[in-house]
Amino acid sequence: MNKGKGDMLPAGQTLNRKHILIGITGGIAAYKSADLTRRLIEAGADVRIMMTQAATEFVTPLTFQALSGQPVFFDNSDDSSGMKHIELARWADAIIIAPASANTLAKLAQGRADNLLTTTCLASEASKYFAPAMNRVMWHDLSTQSNCKTLRDKNWAQLGPASGLQACGETGEGRMLEVSDILTAVAQGFKSGALQGLNLTVTAGPTFEAIDPVRFIGNRSSGRMGYAIASAAHEAGANVTLISGPSHLTPPDVTSFIAVESAAEMQHAVFSVIDNCHIYISTAAVSDYRVKNIATQKIKKTQDTLTLELTRNDDILSAVANHKNRPYVVGFAAETENIIDNARQKLVQKNLDMIIANDVSTNTDEQTDIGFNSEYNALHVFWTDGEQGEAEQHFDIARKSQLATRLITLIARQYKTRKNQHAKNTA
Ligand code: PMT
Repeated sequence: MNKGKGDMLPAGQTLNRKHILIGITGGIAAYKSADLTRRLIEAGADVRIMMTQAATEFVTPLTFQALSGQPVFFDNSDDSSGMKHIELARWADAIIIAPASANTLAKLAQGRADNLLTTTCLASEASKYFAPAMNRVMWHDLSTQSNCKTLRDKNWAQLGPASGLQACGETGEGRMLEVSDILTAVAQGFKSGALQGLNLTVTAGPTFEAIDPVRFIGNRSSGRMGYAIASAAHEAGANVTLISGPSHLTPPDVTSFIAVESAAEMQHAVFSVIDNCHIYISTAAVSDYRVKNIATQKIKKTQDTLTLELTRNDDILSAVANHKNRPYVVGFAAETENIIDNARQKLVQKNLDMIIANDVSTNTDEQTDIGFNSEYNALHVFWTDGEQGEAEQHFDIARKSQLATRLITLIARQYKTRKNQHAKNTA
């Protein structure tokens, strides 16, 4: 029986904007993946499908193309670049192999890469799920059991199988898990709980400093990086306050959203929540200067040159880091040169716990464009580590939403390490 939209996931869980790649292998349960596709889309996910050759003999790619509204990828589908597996591997937040045949499970366990599906899985850092579906004897075979264990050991999540009447007429274990259970498990997988109950403040976007009633000094920040971090922290269980400068983006699902315009307004908003904040992440591109005397009327075009006197804004990040009840403080460094050295300097000078550096020099190649106003970024992270001095990690080019999830995992871990060290030192 089909349930209506919204009935499939427990309250508070959505798959909004998640990139889900479904891998369909040869088995009669392939028809159930049509329902899985539809339900994932209803839950807000962006879905792509890849099929093995055997799967196309059970259900046609056209069925999935119609349901997902996207081309379906299989071994003979057009791939002029020969890089489709890399593209799909990077695109996915999660990969679900459903149904997963005994043959594909064996290949995945061995790390084989002999078709688009297995190659993509091998090349992807996404969360991975498999929903076995096969005859009960095949399921209980020691090789199949051992392959599943290998996959679990490699961090794949096993979904099912369920028990019941099988297509072959036998009754037993080996049916593909119900679609609603697969959906719930995948939605749950995005909720790590790593920041459960903690209060986290994120600043995002640019600030606008008024020149007169119609003009301002701004910058190229879109808010994407900060919104992605706020969203990932919310998924990790934090109570998130997102303080944002002007942005065209729809705010993500967070506990509290405060819209501001200028650096002074952002500072005021930050200090209204900072005493009750465990982690502060400063992603905003805050203007370093503001206009000293804002004109009350629109400035007329009467002179050949116009001089504006600017005055320095407070550094909000430094002020937070030097606050008496300071939270765990994470800054960003937007750099166009000497990225690593400049970031390290900011870590020390601003008295931060962690700094995340990104290259914001102009890049005209859309494929590799990162930093301001792009979907993508690449990050160098440095943090102070009580026992070992300074530590670092590099995150290669990826979508900002994927980087945000990885950053939140790292920040949660470092926050807990710091807390434990503090408890040890004060015991
Ligand atoms: O919004 P997007 O289009 O997705 O782009 C993301 C981004 C490039 C803006 C983001 O990843 C980023 O790098 N943000 C920091 C931008 C910045 O202002 O960097 P900065 O090196 O000038 O400042 C260092 C740190 O001090 C930042 O954490 C900044 O928020 C903070 N700062 C700066 C000035 C000021 N007056 N107050 C501050 O708190």
